[in-house]
Amino acid sequence: MKHRITIQPKGLVFEADEDESILDAAAKVGIKMLKSCDNGICEVCRATLVAGLIDTPQGQFNASDADVNPMLPCVSKAKSELILEQKKVLAPGEIPLQHLAFQVKDITEQSGDVFIVELLAPAGKHPDFHAGQYLELLIDDNAYPFTIASAPGGREIQLHIGADKDHTANQSILTSLRSAPTVRARLPRGDVWLKPNKIEDNLHDPLIFIVAGTGFSQAKAMIEEQFKHQHSAIYLYWINRDGEGFYSELAQQWADDNKLHYRAMTPESPDCEFYTNETVESLIEQQFPTLNNLHVVICGGPNFVYSVLDGLESKGIKQSQTMSDVYAYMPRPEK
Ligand code: FES
Repeated sequence: MKHRITIQPKGLVFEADEDESILDAAAKVGIKMLKSCDNGICEVCRATLVAGLIDTPQGQFNASDADVNPMLPCVSKAKSELILEQKKVLAPGEIPLQHLAFQVKDITEQSGDVFIVELLAPAGKHPDFHAGQYLELLIDDNAYPFTIASAPGGREIQLHIGADKDHTANQSILTSLRSAPTVRARLPRGDVWLKPNKIEDNLHDPLIFIVAGTGFSQAKAMIEEQFKHQHSAIYLYWINRDGEGFYSELAQQWADDNKLHYRAMTPESPDCEFYTNETVESLIEQQFPTLNNLHVVICGGPNFVYSVLDGLESKGIKQSQTMSDVYAYMPRPEK
């Protein structure tokens, strides 16, 4: 008989048979709980039973029993639906947080007041993250989030920092990076990344990126990672107020090399060569015969993301088909 198990505070849910340990059942679905001895001695796996009934080598215990906790998932079996608490558990694919001191290797200015910052991790340390995640620069007791613009795999990390007159905080951060040889950072953060099973389930589904400004950095990392797998046809729509905003030539190079489909758009500047008075959702509607198999990543600020989402929904694309960092830090405004 199977029982549902929830691990708080992350709300991870899985099922366990009555004859397998809770720790083994979690591992089967990719949930990593701390463990060492795996036989009830070291207590590394210790958790708190919040609700339910468990079977242990010492007998059966309810959450209300005085001496039930700490419970040890490596030698405990579920006898009912359970709620456990364990803070250090990792969700499937979740990478533990790392703190690293990066060397500031290079800072180069692009058009549109965008700066490309190259960071280098210490020798022997490879920053571990998923393409699409972000890091936090730790400067003067503050944590500044920036999307990692490079795919994982080496010691180098690239950031794209917009520092026009609307981004004075970023100007200060650049000043700090120029004056110090190293900067501390913690990573990875964020849940916008392409889960391997999701990619494999949808090998031929189009993958669409709709980005604004330096939102291109998140798309860049995810697209470079996708090039390694070549699972999906990739479409990139990059929207800026004017031509200055297209600070990287990479998108056009990828298109010239037939690696993806690219459309540069400036909806507000008729003088610009990229000007179009068509909306991105109407372009997508024309491009694809069916819309319910599309996967869309939207990269930009909250106003941009929600206005793109409104447009996509007006064509029948569901929010569940889309991903954006904004959904986590700024829930959709009430209509
Ligand atoms: S892993 Fe050692 S007690 Fe559970």
